[in-house]
Amino acid sequence: MKHLLSTADLSHSEAVLILDTTAQMAATQAREVKKLPTLRGRTVVNLFFEDSTRTRISFETAAKRLSADVINFSAKGSSVSKGESLKDTALTLKAMGADAVVIRHQASGAPYTLAHAGWLDAPVINAGDGTHQHPTQALLDAFTIRRHLVSDSVGADLRGLKIVIVGDVLHSRVARANVHLLHTLGAHVTLVAPPTLLPVSVETWPCDVSYHLDQTIDEVQPDAIMMLRVQRERMSSAGGGFFPSPLEYTRLYGLDGRRMDRLPPHAIILHPGPMNRGLEISAEAADSPRSVIVEQVSNGVAVRMAVLYLLLTGDHSEATQHPSTPAKEIQ
Ligand code: NCD
Repeated sequence: MKHLLSTADLSHSEAVLILDTTAQMAATQAREVKKLPTLRGRTVVNLFFEDSTRTRISFETAAKRLSADVINFSAKGSSVSKGESLKDTALTLKAMGADAVVIRHQASGAPYTLAHAGWLDAPVINAGDGTHQHPTQALLDAFTIRRHLVSDSVGADLRGLKIVIVGDVLHSRVARANVHLLHTLGAHVTLVAPPTLLPVSVETWPCDVSYHLDQTIDEVQPDAIMMLRVQRERMSSAGGGFFPSPLEYTRLYGLDGRRMDRLPPHAIILHPGPMNRGLEISAEAADSPRSVIVEQVSNGVAVRMAVLYLLLTGDHSEATQHPSTPAKEIQ
């Protein structure tokens, strides 16, 4: 694993290794002194071409907790054309001696270009590209689900779990990243959305698809339900004709107290944030004891520490066979 560009590239053992390493990192984050010396002298560049609050802060915190130097490069508003600006930026980063580059970009595929165009030798981590992928979000979701519903023991995956993902799948890199990763980890995924918010290619994804939320909850009896944000900024106007009205959307696809009561008692609620409270999720559901939304944010730091650690400290073929190895190294 040289880069982290898409969850579709991760094998089962790589995905489990990242989750196991995340558990080790999370344990260090419960200590009074949270900082580890592991990446001292290394430079991590955060290259954000698109708005972000929690993902950028989370990557920055993760790199700092591992003692790396962090450079935040906010490229939003650049008027240079996409290809040129990426190439020039990559050459600058190379000249500055970046050891890893975290990139968020509005164009699907930009991290792939950065990783494979030959401009840069450093590992590239995709922090969200267009509507394509957001691998660290899916990994933190999987980690949160594993911790709650399976266990933190080494090697655990999500075999047999039923996960329902609801909402604006069309514009969601989180949904794409999750469908692939959850499938690789052995979970069964059902997507629920209005037909207008599903991509044409969804038939080729490793999951089931439904247009009816209540029926799906009753039939699937999910162990976890993940609500997606309605991404109004990617729609031409308020609802962009994707649904008749916000009220109608909430009535058919929102998670409120009534729907929450139909879930199995052990089921947990996830949302990647930022939430549109009152649209895809009610305050009652978001703030209920079943909600793990705040925990997702703190697990995000541990996941990003794990990914930076694995990509920057070299060959982990041995660690893949003996997953306890990273634990020894980071203690
Ligand atoms: C997601 C994103 O940016 O793709 N948010 C995040 O990373 N926390 C989901 C979203 O914006 O809805």
